[in-house]
Amino acid sequence: MENQTQVQQQFICRKLELEDYQKGFLLCLSYLTKTPDLPFEKFKEIYNNYPGCVYVVEDVQAKLIASTISLVIEQNIFETKYYIENVVTHPDYRGKGFVRELMEKIKSDVKDLVKKENGENGNENNQISLELYCKQETKGLYEKLGFQEDGFIASKYV
Ligand SMILES: CC(C)(COP(=O)(O)OP(=O)(O)OC[C@H]1O[C@@H](n2cnc3c(N)ncnc32)[C@H](O)[C@@H]1OP(=O)(O)O)[C@@H](O)C(=O)NCCC(=O)NCCS
Repeated sequence: MENQTQVQQQFICRKLELEDYQKGFLLCLSYLTKTPDLPFEKFKEIYNNYPGCVYVVEDVQAKLIASTISLVIEQNIFETKYYIENVVTHPDYRGKGFVRELMEKIKSDVKDLVKKENGENGNENNQISLELYCKQETKGLYEKLGFQEDGFIASKYV
């Protein structure tokens, strides 16, 4: 099928669909963060207004979401920013390379998107930066995936 990749026989890497509400998408996310009990209507509203795109790996036999990453696209004054968020794999599916696969799909989709937006005037060699914030414990994962530490992230509770 178009716009999805076969990860391993039983798994498919694709964009989030509304039906994923029934396939444990929120359960998968709950292994990253405390997720509220979201009614379907609210989920639909968030889905329809999401400023970017959510990607998932589905276990098609079990009809379960095994892994997910969100790509947030933000239009700044001078440029478009691409942020990676909500990176999590269900504990039963870790170590199978799903986050690596999702990241590859995002990379390829962002490149296509930029190419499309720039059209004929685009410079093929323009570098596109994917940015993310992570805790010290997962720094090694992102380094393995080719990310490099860049700058200083600060937060302040107000
Ligand atoms: C971290 C997490 C997302 C990894 O998901 P995963 O699907 O198991 O990752 P992958 O199998 O695609 O791993 C890709 C590579 O990173 C490595 N890796 C995975 N987790 C790692 C970690 N915490 N530190 C260092 N390397 C890590 C893997 O060994 C693999 O390396 P390889 O390709 O050389 O074998 C998963 O363990 C998880 O959901 N943890 C809890 C939530 C979390 O911490 N999310 C990140 C928030 S910033």
